[in-house]
Amino acid sequence: MELLEAIKTRRSIRHYEPTEVPKDVVTQILQLALNAPSAGNKQPWRIHAVHNATLRKHLCDAAGGQLFLMEAPWVICVVAVPEESAARYGERGRTLYCIQDTAALVTHIMLIARNFGLDTCWVGAFDEKKAGEILQLPVGQRCVAMIPLGYAAEPRKDRPRKPLNEIATFHE
Ligand SMILES: Cc1cc2nc3c(=O)[nH]c(=O)nc-3n(C[C@H](O)[C@H](O)[C@H](O)COP(=O)(O)O)c2cc1C
Repeated sequence: MELLEAIKTRRSIRHYEPTEVPKDVVTQILQLALNAPSAGNKQPWRIHAVHNATLRKHLCDAAGGQLFLMEAPWVICVVAVPEESAARYGERGRTLYCIQDTAALVTHIMLIARNFGLDTCWVGAFDEKKAGEILQLPVGQRCVAMIPLGYAAEPRKDRPRKPLNEIATFHE
């Protein structure tokens, strides 16, 4: 699948087939996603790829019962390490760059997954403290996104976007 096709067909999927996704495929997706940019190439992130069903149940609970986190065979948790950004960029690194960097990583994972014929959904609504406990994160690390990864069990919905001319300004 070409990049533009992946971009055009990526949609949040909230129902997944029970079909397994081999660890090797997940590894390839994550390896490619590491090409994401980050401020000063600090890469202030960690990735927790969760296949364990009990852990996925806990993550689902932490996310207010978003059941598709249990349906999908994998949940990829993207974790920010603010102090790795702060070491070089101070407060701007701690509060802004590490969040932007991890957001870039999330979108890379989602689009690369699509390229492999897989689907995802960016999940940001969860209890961050509980997620940190479930993943046993060291103090200071922040789980910023959960990404269910698997085969879609629902049609892709075309969700409207604001017209470009409403949101873009060209300074020529
Ligand atoms: C920061 C962020 C947090 C989100 N959190 C959730 C979430 O907790 N649960 C969910 O079902 N979708 C969540 N979404 C997905 C959005 O609802 C979705 O991307 C948006 O409605 C556009 O639809 P599309 O992804 O199908 O294009 C989140 C997206 C972003 C970028």
